[in-house]
Amino acid sequence: MTPYAPYPLGRPRRLRFDDFTRRMVRENQVTPDDFIYPVFLHEGSKRRQAVASMPGVERLSIDLLLPVAERCMELGVPCIDLFPAIDTERKDADGSEALNPDGLVPRAIQALKKEFPELGVMTDVALDPYTSHGQDGVLDETGYILNDATVDILTRMSVLHAQAGADIISPSDMMDGRILSIRDALEEESLVNTRIMAYSAKYASAFYGPFREAVGSAANLGKSNKKNYQMDPANGNEALREVALDIAEGADMVMVKPGLPYLDIVWRVKETFKVPTFAYQVSGEYAMLKAAAQNGWIDHDAVMMESLLAFKRAGADGILTYCALEAAEWLRQHG
Ligand code: PBG
Repeated sequence: MTPYAPYPLGRPRRLRFDDFTRRMVRENQVTPDDFIYPVFLHEGSKRRQAVASMPGVERLSIDLLLPVAERCMELGVPCIDLFPAIDTERKDADGSEALNPDGLVPRAIQALKKEFPELGVMTDVALDPYTSHGQDGVLDETGYILNDATVDILTRMSVLHAQAGADIISPSDMMDGRILSIRDALEEESLVNTRIMAYSAKYASAFYGPFREAVGSAANLGKSNKKNYQMDPANGNEALREVALDIAEGADMVMVKPGLPYLDIVWRVKETFKVPTFAYQVSGEYAMLKAAAQNGWIDHDAVMMESLLAFKRAGADGILTYCALEAAEWLRQHG
C-alpha cells in the first residue's frame, strides 16, 4: 500500500483541485513519439479506396502514400507500418507474391526511404495478404498451417524487406521459431541493424475483422480461423512464455495484440521483462470508436485520447494505432 494520511489529514481531492496541480502530479502522458501509423497499400497511381468498416482509413497507391508520410514527419510520428492489399490474381496457395522483389511492399519501402529517409519504415511479415486461402502460412493437404515451411518463406520475405530498406521487420504470423530464423538470416546478410518487433503475444481475436476487409483476406478466409497458431484469448501466462522465447531468439521489441482488451498482458509483459513493449490498438477497436462517435454516443476525441493514455499507463512504450495522425493533430492543438 502507498502510505497516505487518513482523512481529514489526507484529502486526495487536494491534488485534483485545479489544472496546474493536476498537471504537476500527472504520472503518464501521450506524445506523437508513442505512435506507429499502420497504412494500407494497393497497386495503381492516384488511387484511393475507402475501407468501409474503418471510417477515415483508405487503401492508397504508393504515390498517395508519400503525402501521408510527409504528414507523419510534420506531426512527429516516428514510424509508419505497411500492409498491402494484393490484387486477387497475384494470390496463390503459397503466397509467392510475398517474395517478389518488385512487389508492392518493396517498392513502397524504396519510395518512402528515398523521399523521407528519416521516417521509420516498418513492415508486417505474414502471408495472409498474399495467400488465396487467407491464412498466414502455407498448408498441408489437411489444411493445417505448416510451421517450418512457413518460417522459411517469412525469413526470405524479411531479408527482402530489409534489403529494400525497411528499418523494422514485424512478423505477425505466430509461427514457432521465426524470430531466430529471421535474425540469423539478417546477420548472414550483414543487415545487423535491422530491428525486429515481434508480435509475441498475438491472440486469435475477433477484433481483427475490419483489417481483414482492408487487406482483402476476409472473403478468402471464409469461416476458417487462426486458432492453431494465434493465441487463445483465455491465456495470460502463455503470453509470458511467448515473449521470453522471442527475446531469446533476438527480438529487439515485443508487441501485444489486440490492445485495450489485453492491457493486463501489456502490464505483465512490461513488469516481467522490462523490454520495449508495444501494443496494437487493432481495427475492431478503431471501428467501435468511430461507430459510437458517428452515432453521437461518445465524444470521439476524448475517448481516443483516454484510450491512448491507458496504453501508456499499462506500461506500453508505444502504440500501433490507426488514430496516430488524428491524435498527433489533437496533441498539437491541445497538448
Ligand atoms: C496479419 C495481421 C492481422 C493484423 C495485423 N497483421 C490480421 C490477422 O492476424 O488476421 C490485424 C490488425 C488489425 O486488426 O488492425 N497477420
